[in-house]
Amino acid sequence: MIIVGGSSSRDLAKELASTLGYTYVQAATTRFPDGECYTRIDNKELNDDVVIVQNTYPDGNLIEMFLLQDAVRRLGAKTITLVIPYFGYARQDRVFKLGEPESARVMTRHLGLDCDHVITVDIHKESVLDYFKCSHQDLKAAGAIAEYFKDKGIDLVLSPDLGAIGRAKDVADRLGLKYDHLQKTRLSGSDVQIAPAVVDCKGKNVLIVDDMISTGGTIIAAAHALREAGAESISVACTHGVFVSNAIERLTGSSLDSILCCNTLENELSHISVAPIIAEALKR
Ligand code: R5P
Repeated sequence: MIIVGGSSSRDLAKELASTLGYTYVQAATTRFPDGECYTRIDNKELNDDVVIVQNTYPDGNLIEMFLLQDAVRRLGAKTITLVIPYFGYARQDRVFKLGEPESARVMTRHLGLDCDHVITVDIHKESVLDYFKCSHQDLKAAGAIAEYFKDKGIDLVLSPDLGAIGRAKDVADRLGLKYDHLQKTRLSGSDVQIAPAVVDCKGKNVLIVDDMISTGGTIIAAAHALREAGAESISVACTHGVFVSNAIERLTGSSLDSILCCNTLENELSHISVAPIIAEALKR
């Protein structure tokens, strides 16, 4: 098997190849002066099962994925597996208002034109994957998060809202801890309100778990509510650190004790690796 690393996920792709003992091939991706994507795989052939590791966010990375699919097929790939650590557009999984596109379905339709298997990690809505005609699998980062926090003295695991409680439960169960949720109301794309915490967190070391941090609004409001309720320390772990605009500065400047995310998106806070869970899936 050959692992091809796209520009969004080079470190993760290298880690996967070294964990599995597979050949690693780096796609050389640059931009033309007008911003269009150029990529090339400097191999004579890829006469093997090929895994492309590349995010489909932001838009430039999606285009690179399309180009890589074509390039590896032309080089003779026997099968193509797409590992999409962070699947863009998964949040627009239906038409909320008349006249909108069903964005997630558009992405699966186009990505599915030339691949045999798709692997994602904590995709926002798992049902999106059912639009793929090929086989697909969404992996859960809870195991990697729990492994990281197993000796960090956490007392309680929380999700920011009821909708995300399954993820908090998964992490808590693995750590043998209790879990609960806060009450979040989204006011706008960047503003959220978290109701005063009714959960007993006084004097406790709390871990908030979410699937993604975008503006940081959710986590900052959650941390405020937990401090007010007397939490001793507040750590945050998310799968996807999207961190738009100055989110990292806002978060590191807040009252949080630690902020970590997985390396589905590679950045300065992505210290929890999902390579072991993806490697297991690829072996299977
Ligand atoms: C919402 O459904 C997600 O699970 C996250 O809580 C949300 O996307 C975080 O966004 P932000 O960091 O902008 O509050």
